[in-house]
Amino acid sequence: MSKFVTIERFIFDNQPEYAKGDLTNLLYDIALAAKIISYKTNRAGLQDILGNAGFINVQGETQQKLDVFADQTIFRICDHPGRLCVMASEEQDDVIHIPDQYAKGRYALVYDPLDGSSNIDVNVSTGTIFGIYRYKEWELRGRREDVLQPPRDLVAAGYILYGSSTMMVYSTGQGVHGFTLDPELGEFLLSHESVRLPEPPAYYSINGGYFDRWQPEVQNYVRWLQGRYNDGAGAAPPLSARYIGSLVADFHRNLLRGGIFMYPGERDKPHGKIRLLYEAGPLAFLVNQAGGYASTGTESILDLTPTDLHQRTPVFIGNRSLVEKAESLLQRRKIQLD
Ligand code: AHG
Ligand code: MN
Ligand code: MN
Repeated sequence: MSKFVTIERFIFDNQPEYAKGDLTNLLYDIALAAKIISYKTNRAGLQDILGNAGFINVQGETQQKLDVFADQTIFRICDHPGRLCVMASEEQDDVIHIPDQYAKGRYALVYDPLDGSSNIDVNVSTGTIFGIYRYKEWELRGRREDVLQPPRDLVAAGYILYGSSTMMVYSTGQGVHGFTLDPELGEFLLSHESVRLPEPPAYYSINGGYFDRWQPEVQNYVRWLQGRYNDGAGAAPPLSARYIGSLVADFHRNLLRGGIFMYPGERDKPHGKIRLLYEAGPLAFLVNQAGGYASTGTESILDLTPTDLHQRTPVFIGNRSLVEKAESLLQRRKIQLD
């Protein structure tokens, strides 16, 4: 009989001493928001929550009703308990301040309330991504500076995957742990303790439809992954191609089976599509905790300090051996350009 370890119990038992309070409670809050979003997501086809909300977000993308619902749910759960001093969301132009009537806490929350929105109406997995920073300066807490920090300085990061089951995967710097929601109990129960990227990797994920937009070194790297290009430094392990179109779902599968997810820059989008603050950064923190690595193709994503809330970055994330191979091929272009 597997022991019933709830996320609350696990977080409390495994938090470092210094984080027994607010950080633990903040992770509880996120777990509650996840249950509410999961409830709505699993009934999206039955209630008037499919389709677009009729608004365009700061990304220039049509907001889906579930984007808006998820965004509002996280804000309403997290704005008043006094754990946070500021928030930043994919769906909001600027930082979200804690209303004056509530105490400002020690942490800053960045989040993508619903990742993979294009998949909502076709019943394909979607997710939520979050990262938690500590304030920069106590007396000045609540500013943009509290979220514009390099991912290496995250104190916690994670995601929720609304898939065949709802899972919450997080790390506070002591490994990566996965919890599966038992809908009857309404509890997240420990199902994947201390997750490490397996070797050899099994998958590579990239939107092959954009092949002609990539620089030649990226094209050669994808050919290497496919066993069609050999630079004399050894062949790739046998890999299958999988691309779901929801970063959280592609990342989660690669975390459990080994692999690499890529969203490279393109000719007219040199920084690609994935946002640093609330997509690439938190996942870079997680993959590092699971023994993997996340790169722009030339440098570690963990060391990028955001200057804009919604800035994008090329992403190569997964097993370190595969990501470093991408760097070795892309660096050659950098050397040629330098
Ligand atoms: P979001 O729905 O939060 O905007 O994120 C969508 C992202 C990511 O989830 C996914 O990997 C990528 O967009 C898919 O982009 P393409 O459709 O261009 O492949
Ligand atoms: Mn997203
Ligand atoms: Mn989103």
